[in-house]
Amino acid sequence: MTRAIAPAAIAKLRKHAIVEVWPRETPPPYAQLLRRAREADALLTMVTDRIDAALIASAPKLRVISNLAVGLDNIDVAAATAQGIAVGHTPGVLTDATADLAFALLMAAARRVAEGDREVRAGKWQTWGPAVLLGHDVWGATLGIIGWGQIGRAMARRGIGFNMRVLYTSRSTRNRESVPGATRVSMKRLLQKSDFVSLHVPLTPQTRHLIGAKELASMKPGAILINTARGAVIDQRALYRSLKAGHLGGAGLDVTDPEPIAPGDPMLKLAKVVITPHIGSASYTTRNKMADIATDNIIAVLEGRLPRFCANPEVRLRPPASYPGHI
Ligand code: GLV
Repeated sequence: MTRAIAPAAIAKLRKHAIVEVWPRETPPPYAQLLRRAREADALLTMVTDRIDAALIASAPKLRVISNLAVGLDNIDVAAATAQGIAVGHTPGVLTDATADLAFALLMAAARRVAEGDREVRAGKWQTWGPAVLLGHDVWGATLGIIGWGQIGRAMARRGIGFNMRVLYTSRSTRNRESVPGATRVSMKRLLQKSDFVSLHVPLTPQTRHLIGAKELASMKPGAILINTARGAVIDQRALYRSLKAGHLGGAGLDVTDPEPIAPGDPMLKLAKVVITPHIGSASYTTRNKMADIATDNIIAVLEGRLPRFCANPEVRLRPPASYPGHI
């Protein structure tokens, strides 16, 4: 386990396995991970852990990788499948928490909440002023949602609840549940028409830099971009240039590329950008549910079944290794 998760979940797992927990708040260095993975039947990982083909190839006993996340871009799922290793994740339980955070960033960027807080703390609140910290109305504005998975749809429901006009785009041809009041449009139209654009796609080779200079230029002047997906879905340099040039009106970013954002990154100098440290699913209840699912995903494989939330259900599980000390 690459970080301590909810104690109840660790205790549950201890009934099935010898559990080693990385004791620090920062992730284990890759070399450590590589060394420990050699001995492990199961890994419980975070989005910060790079589980690549080399690591997978050097873990002969490994049967399950269980990510405490819905996203899987930190794991080479194809390499795991090829080695007979199941990959588990935690979809569903973090949908609303992540959409809440996306909406919080939208409102914070629109109404300059973080900027206002910084000014107050810096002793710059002199008086009520007719032109102090003016922002943009959320109600009545157009919200464009890119990605129509569970989180995108939850974001749409929030927008509709706030009396926004909601547009969405999806590259999936699957006929997914509709949200009354939300209209499907092309990506081009969505970028042209939206006052707020919120990203809800997984990071894949197809979505890396999905929002680059061209897309940013086609957004409405003054529009605000929200990202709670993965930093690399945006070309961050292009975003900086667009904000700096005054084309985009602001951004709310829960994810950056890289993470953490470098302390000297010029983005941190832009008052109109709100940045949070990848906390989309970080509510007590949600993280407990994620921990529960992530441990259940491991226990299933230790008992010879596939994880309940399995990213590679086609996998042919490799047989368990027997070794001295196995319980
Ligand atoms: C968090 O980023 C997740 O994918 O759950």
